[in-house]
Amino acid sequence: MTPDPSRAEAEASAVAASAARLRQRLGALQPRIAVVLGSGWGGLAGKVDGAIDVPYDELPAFPRLAVGGHAGLVRAGTLSGTPVLVLAGRKHAYETGDVGAMRGVVRTLAALGVTTLVQTNAAGSLDRGMPAGSLMLITDHLNLVQRSPLVDDPGVGGDKRFVDMANAYDPTLAEQARTAARKAGQTLHEGIYVWLLGPQFETPAEIRMLQGLGGHAVGMSTVPETILARHAGLKVLAFSLFTNMAAGLSDESLSHAHTMATAASASERACNLLAAVIPALSA
Ligand code: HPA
Repeated sequence: MTPDPSRAEAEASAVAASAARLRQRLGALQPRIAVVLGSGWGGLAGKVDGAIDVPYDELPAFPRLAVGGHAGLVRAGTLSGTPVLVLAGRKHAYETGDVGAMRGVVRTLAALGVTTLVQTNAAGSLDRGMPAGSLMLITDHLNLVQRSPLVDDPGVGGDKRFVDMANAYDPTLAEQARTAARKAGQTLHEGIYVWLLGPQFETPAEIRMLQGLGGHAVGMSTVPETILARHAGLKVLAFSLFTNMAAGLSDESLSHAHTMATAASASERACNLLAAVIPALSA
C-alpha cells in the first residue's frame, strides 16, 4: 500500500495536540512512567496523590472507548512521590480488528517525555502452579495473532519499523520489580504471555498448543502496545493478573462475568504490587 501523507499528518497533529493538552493540564509535573490499567488493576488510580484527570475525549489521538463501558481517563499525579500517568481504559484489537488502536496513545506518551510503559492485564493461566488470583511478571511474549500495529502505519517507514524485540520487556525494570515485590512480601510468578485476538475464549485444544509452545499466560491485549512502545523507544514492564485457569485446566466454565469477579477479588493485591514497584523503578 502506498503511504498516505495526509493520514500521516493527521495522526502526527493529533499526537502533538494530545501531548500539548496534557502538558497544559500537568503544569510542572513531568511523569516518566505511564501505567496502562487492565481488568483488576483499576484500583491503582485511587492511590494516585494530587490527581489531575484528563478524559480521553479531550485527547484527539486517544481512542473513543465502547459506549456503556468506561470513557477512558488519564490520571496524572504521584505515587509515593514518583510522578506517574495512569491510563484507565484501553482499546482492544478484538473490538474492531484494529491492532493499531493504541498507536496515538503510545506516541503521545513518547512525545510527552514518558520513557517507561508499565502494562497490566487480566489473563488465563496455562500453568497449574500459577492459580487464579495470582500475579505474573511478563518476561516475554508470543504474538500468535501475527499482526502488528506497525503495518500500514502512516507514521512509520524506512528502517525504523524493523524493531528489535529481544528484551522487549526490559530486564533491568523486571529485576527492580522482582526486588520490590519481594520487599513487599508479594509472590510474583514469571512467564511468557501469549496474545490471541479473542474475543472468544480458547478451546482446550488451543490451550494445550499454547502450553506446548512455552506460554504461561493467555490474553487478548498488551502485545500491540509493547510493539508500539519499543518502536517509540519506551522501555516496557508488564504484569498479568490471573482471573482463571485457561480452558480445559479446571472445571469452571469461562465467562466475562467470572473473569471480572476474580479480577475484583485479587485487585487489592495487584494494586499494592504496583504501588510498591512503581516508585522503585529507575525510569
Ligand atoms: N483467555 C484469554 N483472555 C483472558 C482469559 C483467558 O482465559 N482470562 C482473562 N483474559
